[in-house]
Amino acid sequence: MAPRKIKPGVHSVGAIDWDRRLFDSLIPLPLGTSYNAYLVQGQDKVALIDTVEPGLAKDLFANLDELGVKKIDYVVCHHAEQDHSGSIPAVLARYPGSKVVTNQKCADLLSSHLRVPTTACEIVPDGAVLDLGGRSLQFIFAPWVHWPETMFSYLREDKILFTCDFFGSHFATGTLYADDEHHVYLSAKRYYAEIMMPFRQKYGVYLQKIDALAPEIIAPSHGPIYRRPEFILDAYKDWTSDTVKNEALVAYVSMHGSTKIMVDRLVDRLVTQGINVKQFDLATIDIGELAMALVDAATLVLATPTVLNGPHPAAVYAAYLAGAIKPKLRHAVIIGSQAWGGKTVDTLKGLLAGLKLEMFDPLMSKGLPTSEDLLAVDRLAETIQSRHAALMPTGA
Ligand code: FEO
Repeated sequence: MAPRKIKPGVHSVGAIDWDRRLFDSLIPLPLGTSYNAYLVQGQDKVALIDTVEPGLAKDLFANLDELGVKKIDYVVCHHAEQDHSGSIPAVLARYPGSKVVTNQKCADLLSSHLRVPTTACEIVPDGAVLDLGGRSLQFIFAPWVHWPETMFSYLREDKILFTCDFFGSHFATGTLYADDEHHVYLSAKRYYAEIMMPFRQKYGVYLQKIDALAPEIIAPSHGPIYRRPEFILDAYKDWTSDTVKNEALVAYVSMHGSTKIMVDRLVDRLVTQGINVKQFDLATIDIGELAMALVDAATLVLATPTVLNGPHPAAVYAAYLAGAIKPKLRHAVIIGSQAWGGKTVDTLKGLLAGLKLEMFDPLMSKGLPTSEDLLAVDRLAETIQSRHAALMPTGA
């Protein structure tokens, strides 16, 4: 992908990874991704903001060559994770004399992860300003978006905020700007759920700082650029708020159909009572879809048969994921089936314990659900509905 002009002297020069389908050997990428890097040319100095996944450094260099770049004075490193920092050693080798501009914590991580010598780094404090001649970059520390060293840069004269992973989306597209807001919203929400949500309570202060800056453009390091910043700022304010929606996430796995009978009855009753249900079969689910559904849900229903004395491994994975990404759920319940007992409920409750949820009484049928089991499911639906009504008195 050729370099793309954002403003005179400010170009997007990163790489698009159209075909990548898995990130960190963990996160599905149904739409690929991009590693955005930005070239900012002042009257005196040239800064490269972040780099790209090392395997695509050739694309970055082709873009810099196309712009006729012979010298880079500064490589601003917002974040030491290798999809943005991994090409820094190659950049330093190609442009001798360039300095990595970053914070101390990031320099330490670059040293341990990539063997970038600390002598190659110029350490800046929070709020420092780097003068490029007619243009200046102000650094804003933003720990835990999503590592402890992360920071933003604000190109003050052009009102462009570079936020690295914050506001990013795994969305490979040839379109520079996020004008297709429906599709970008879904990709950005998936990205938030998978990457940012565990630290959501830290983000209010960053969102306030960004509001005060009033940037005209927000340029993250994955996915398209926002030239209507309020679109992504409003989305993040909603996702990071403490407000849950009238939604129940029903994540199930069934081996011989008994658990599915319980699930079908519960979903039917919840829907009848006006609850927005999102149901996923854990045997086939893309975990990104599950993570997205956890952003807003008030209740998690985890349904599993008992296998070898415990939950189905797919249910263990889902419970572990929910515990790790820390959604703003309020309630959870475990339902399912068993043949002769086991530790299914205790195991799953243990994995969810860190979320400090109200756990409703579990419902485990012995084999095929009886009429009494199904009536208990109906009562569970009523309990969930009453809790939701208390959270959302207007029925929102
Ligand atoms: Fe896109 Fe945390 O790296």
